[in-house]
Amino acid sequence: MKKNIAVIRGDGIGPEIVGEALKVLDKIAALYGHEFTFTDVDMGGCAIDRFGDPLPQAELDKCLASDSVLLGAVGGPKWNDVPGPMRPEKGLLRLRADMGVYSNNRPAKIWPQLADASPLKPSIVAQGIDFIIVRELIGGIYFGAHNTITKDGRLLAIDELTYSESEIERIGRIGFETAQKRSKRLCSVEKSNVLDSSRLWKKVMHRLAAEYPDVELSDMLVDNCAMQIVKNPSQFDVIVTENMFGDILSDEASMITGSIGMIPSSSLGASSCGLYEPIHGSAPDIAGQDIANPIGTILSAAMMLRYSFDMAAEADCIESAVSAVLDEGYRTGDILSGDPACIQVGCTEMGRLIIEKMKRE
Ligand code: IPM
Ligand code: MG
Repeated sequence: MKKNIAVIRGDGIGPEIVGEALKVLDKIAALYGHEFTFTDVDMGGCAIDRFGDPLPQAELDKCLASDSVLLGAVGGPKWNDVPGPMRPEKGLLRLRADMGVYSNNRPAKIWPQLADASPLKPSIVAQGIDFIIVRELIGGIYFGAHNTITKDGRLLAIDELTYSESEIERIGRIGFETAQKRSKRLCSVEKSNVLDSSRLWKKVMHRLAAEYPDVELSDMLVDNCAMQIVKNPSQFDVIVTENMFGDILSDEASMITGSIGMIPSSSLGASSCGLYEPIHGSAPDIAGQDIANPIGTILSAAMMLRYSFDMAAEADCIESAVSAVLDEGYRTGDILSGDPACIQVGCTEMGRLIIEKMKRE
C-alpha cells in the first residue's frame, strides 16, 4: 500500500522522537512491501520562528492532503511570551479543528515490565490498569471565545464553554462503540452538579444508551473521577469526557502507568485521516541530548497503521518489538527503575533496538 504521511517534528525533543518513529515506519515498509512517503510540516515554535505563525495555511494544507499526520510535540519556554493567538499550542488546536478530529483516544495501560515505575502502591497496580480515555477534542472551553477586557479599571478574562447536542452525540457514540469492543463498560465523566454543558452531556449520554443495550453506562463527576483514578483504577474500562476534563484526566491516567513517555494517542474524525501523537510534551529541558523516550511516538505510529491504514499485523509487529525490548531490560531514563538488571539507553539506541526486534509474523 502507498501512504503519504505528513510529519510534524515540532519543538524540543520532537525531532528526536519522530526521527526514531520514521525509521520504524521505514522498517515496516521494507518488511511488508508498503510505500510510505513523508512530507515535512512545520508547526509550533519552529513555525513561529520561520513564518511568524504557528501553523501557516500552506503547512496545514500539507496535513489536510495527507493520509495521516504523525506529530512529535510543540512548544517550549522560548515562546512563552508570544501573545495567545500566536502561541505554538494554537497551531496544534487549529490542526485538530481543521482536520475535524473530534475523537481523541488515550490508552492508560500498564506494561507489566514497568509495573514498578508506577507511583501507586503495588497492591493497587496488581488489580490491573487498562482503560481508555475518549476525549472530545475540538469543542468546549478550548474553542469558545477567549477575551480579556477592562472592567471598572481592572482586567477581566473570559473563556466561553459551549457544547451542542450534536457535538456530544458524536463523541458519545465513539465512547459506546469503543466500549462495545472492550469490556462493555462506559463511564461518562462530567460536572453536572455545576455546569449546564455537563447536564446536557449527561442527558445525551443517557439517550444514546438506549441504542447500545449491551453497554453498561455509568456517570461520574470529574472531581470524583480524578480521585478514583488513583484510588481504584481497575474499575475503569472506557471513560468518555469533554475536552478539558479529558486533558487533565489523561495526564493523571498516564502518570499512574509509570511513564507519560510511553503513551500514544490517536485523534480521528469523519475520515480515516487521523492525527497521531504521544501525549507528552516537548520536554525542552532534555532536548538535543539523545535521552528522550521515543516509545510514545513509535506506538503512535503503530496506532496510525492500525486505525487509519487498516494494517493490524504491522501494528502488532511494532508493539511486540517494543515489548521484547522492554523484556530484555532496556530503558530510557524516564522508565528506569532501581532494578540492576535494567540497562539505560538513549533515544537513538532505543529506536535501533526496537527496529532490530521487528519481524514479519
Ligand atoms: C494535550 C496537550 C494540549 C492540549 C496542549 C499542548 C494544547 O496538553 O494534547 O493534552 O491541552 O490539548
Ligand atoms: Mg494535555
